[in-house]
Amino acid sequence: MPKVIVFGSMNMDLSIDAPRVPAAGETLVGSHFMTAAGGKGANQAVAAARLGADVRMVAAVGADGFGDELTAGLAAAGVDVSLVRHVADQTTGVAVILRTAGENRIVLHAGANHALDADDVVSDLRRIGEKNDILVTQGECDPAATEAALREAHDLGLYTVFNPAPARPAPDDLWSCVDLVCLNETECQIMCGVLPSDDDACLAAARRLRELGSGAVAITLGAAGSFGLDADGPVRVPAAPTVVVDTTGAGDTFIGALAAGRARSFSLAESMDWGARAAALAVSRLGAQPSIPTADEVGAAR
Ligand code: RIB
Repeated sequence: MPKVIVFGSMNMDLSIDAPRVPAAGETLVGSHFMTAAGGKGANQAVAAARLGADVRMVAAVGADGFGDELTAGLAAAGVDVSLVRHVADQTTGVAVILRTAGENRIVLHAGANHALDADDVVSDLRRIGEKNDILVTQGECDPAATEAALREAHDLGLYTVFNPAPARPAPDDLWSCVDLVCLNETECQIMCGVLPSDDDACLAAARRLRELGSGAVAITLGAAGSFGLDADGPVRVPAAPTVVVDTTGAGDTFIGALAAGRARSFSLAESMDWGARAAALAVSRLGAQPSIPTADEVGAAR
């Protein structure tokens, strides 16, 4: 089975429930404070590993307690962490998360997530990447390193999955190095100028992303499910029924499932359905990585 290589972020999430978003200058009393392993890259790596993929993480943390804890957690989830660097003069990435009424708002401190440069990532990919492996990357690391990862992986014959989160416009010529772009509504608007507000707009956005050069597209729509488009045509997958406890990491769980599904040669539609069921379990539990389900919990793809 091809392996999944994730170049991405590792954050310690400091997360609290609040009755509402406080106004400027206001102090509110929150509840259910927790620290939990997070970071979009690490969450996607854990999701792919819990769903049975052979996963390598390319990342950097600080030489501090959070870095040690996050690395140990990834290893415990079955992810190979031999390419996670512990950088002496940086602090580990942190995400401050405010949870209100089933939504979350996140402020990031990138810290060591920006420590790896293009040369580091290219050399890692040349060392471990093999044709048909899957590269997964997002927007929380150094932008030049992220672009270089997509270009190098494409040149090496890997299947590339790009989650532009946080989103920033990409150079036009990067899109031909992307086999699958997975993004939410706001990211979609930033990346292609179309807000996917209904099925027609989803189709228009996905067509635009394919015209730019991406091989396939998956747009996540929260409680409305997801919309996909590849050479086989459009796919509409409803969200699986759930009780919303914490949405942190749900999108990452979906993306991890897309990567693990690709490793098992699932179609885009099968992977999206599997991802929807995995994400539904993730939102029913607290925290990012603690909430990500195993393949046994999700059940077989269909
Ligand atoms: O996608 C959720 C993740 O975004 C959190 O775990 C947080 O670390 C931020 O990176």
